[in-house]
This record gives sequence, C-alpha cells and structure tokens, in this order.
Amino acid sequence: MPLGCYKSAVLDAGNPGMDELLREALGEVAEATTIATVKDVEVRWLGKKGRLTSLLKELGGLPPESRKARGAELNSFKQAVEQAVESRRIEVTRAEADDRARAERIDPTLPGHSMAAGRLHPLTRIVAEVEDLFERMGFHILDYPEAEREYFNFDGLNIPADHPARDTQDTFYLPGGNVLRTHTSPGQVRAMRGLTPPFRAIFPGRVYRCEATDASHEHTFHQVEGLMIDRSVSIANMLSSMMTLLEGVFRRKVEVRLRPGFFPFVEPGFELDLRCMVCGGDGCPVCKRSGWVELLPCGLVQPNVIRAGGLDPDEWEGWAFGLGLSRLVMMRYGIDDIRWLMAGDLRFARQF
Ligand code: PHE
Repeated sequence: MPLGCYKSAVLDAGNPGMDELLREALGEVAEATTIATVKDVEVRWLGKKGRLTSLLKELGGLPPESRKARGAELNSFKQAVEQAVESRRIEVTRAEADDRARAERIDPTLPGHSMAAGRLHPLTRIVAEVEDLFERMGFHILDYPEAEREYFNFDGLNIPADHPARDTQDTFYLPGGNVLRTHTSPGQVRAMRGLTPPFRAIFPGRVYRCEATDASHEHTFHQVEGLMIDRSVSIANMLSSMMTLLEGVFRRKVEVRLRPGFFPFVEPGFELDLRCMVCGGDGCPVCKRSGWVELLPCGLVQPNVIRAGGLDPDEWEGWAFGLGLSRLVMMRYGIDDIRWLMAGDLRFARQF
C-alpha cells in the first residue's frame, strides 16, 4: 500500500529521515481505533500546525536546486499519509457501526413474552347481550344509584313501613334514610320522574340483601329491571318482551310457566319460572331440586307507584319485570353456585 510505493520513492531519493517520519505517521494512523483519534492523527500530521506544514515552511529556506526534489518528497509523503488516514477512517467507521449493531442486535429467534389476555366476566357478557336485545326493541338503558333513598326503594313502590321486606334481615341500612338497594325496582319511580311517557327502559345493576349465603343466595347479586309506560299496556306485550329476552340469551326455545305472585308494586303480579337449564328439570342445587327456577317476577305497575312517579294512573299504565340476572347467568353457563359470580377467582373467570 502507500508505505510500499512511498518507500521506494523516498529510499530511492536517498532520504532515510523521511522514511522514518513516514513509518511514525503511518504507525499512529494504524493505532487510531476511533473516528475521533483518526481525526487527531490527521490534525497532528496534516493540519495547519501539523508536522508536514512545518516541513513545507522550511522549503523556502532551501537552495533552489534541492527545493524541487524536497517538494516532491514532501508531496508524496502528504499523499501517503492522506490515503492512510482516509482508509483508516473507513475501517474505523465500519468497525464502530459493527460494534453498535452487535450491541443493539435483536434476535428474532428468542422466545417472546406472551401477553395475558383478559376475559369478560360472564355477568358483563350477559348484561351486554341483554342491553343489546332491548336496545333493538327501542328501550332506554338506564343506571341508578346502588346506595338509594329508602323512599325509592320502599315507600315509592307501595311498600308500607311494616312490610317484611324492610326487615333488617333483608336490608342493609345506611345512615340518613338510605339503604343499599334491595332490588332494581327503585329505578321505576326514578325513570317515571326522569323520562317523558310513553317510554320503555331497562336498568341492570347490583343489588344487596342482608342474608346468609349458599349455592343460590348471595348478599350481592344482579338484576335487570324492565319498565314500559304507555297509555295502555298489555300482559301479552310484557310476556313477549320477556320471552325475547330469554330466547335471545339462551339462543333456543325455553320452557316457562306463569304463576300469580305478590309484590306491592304490581297488580296483578306474576312469577315467571324457567325450566332449569342446568339440570334440564331433573333437580339440582340451582333450582333447589324443583326443576324450575324463579327468574322473572313481573306485573302491571300498581297505580300508587305510577302516582309516586309523578304520573296520573288514569292516563298512564305500565308493566314491569325484575329479572334475576345472576340466576340467568348461572343457567346460561351451567354455574351451580352463585357465590362464584362475586368471588373474584381468576380460575373461574378464565373459563369464559
Ligand atoms: N323487585 C322485585 C324483587 O326484587 C322483583 C319485581 C320487579 C317484581 C318488578 C315485580 C316487578 O324481588
């Protein structure tokens, strides 16, 4: 390389001093291992205050006959050092890039970190499905407080002060005339006060009862209330809405039976029972071995409740149902203990 071609030129010129100098310069170039140190060497030899520049300055003091040869000598020295610096710079740049690439290297064959996928709780799924079904039938989806005025939970629903449902065994009382709502029905009065009739609405939510837990009882469970207010409503229409709900959730024909049922806020009142979908009617803990599950209490809204809602019962009628959502979810997925629903157990949730 440069050393070779220069060597012969300089040696031929009979100047071992220059040869020494070139070895020194090229040695420094070879030892530079970073772009910055290559630059340092370049400045030291070829820069304005560099060694070569000072040699060139001496040219002027030489006798004219030797000036030309010395000039040529310095010129080839300069070219040799320039070339060496340039090729070293390329090497070092490449090496630095290689180092960086190695340090930052990504190995696409390494096993990745798997992302844990979340699941929707079965209750969340069923609520979404029920909301969807009713939204398509023109119902509003409403949400009301879980900590409720005693008035909306009881009095407004025609539940007198001495009614057993007010018993402290069933109700969690809060200070200041409030309760944890024992059902979603307080929404009936609130909806009538808040919306302009005629209207239809459902309000799903959590409800609370102060009672001992077992496979079919929880202190915290879920209901969906349905309410329709119009100038004239029919039980047939109420039934068809409830059947649409059940067949939509189960995606097949269901077997139901209607019994008279008493609730102070409906007149007449009914209980719609569903043939147990867990055991098919043979009897299991969910249906308390009866083959039927009480799922949908319902009826025509009692005139006093219409009045509490701020409407005139001579002008407006209504039907209402209160679906036991927790039980519905259990039927749908074959869950035989209601306590799973609120247990927060991931092994349970992951199955859906
Ligand atoms: N709120 C009643 C309960 O929780 C159910 C119900 C709702 C009954 C609507 C009739 C009409 O038991």
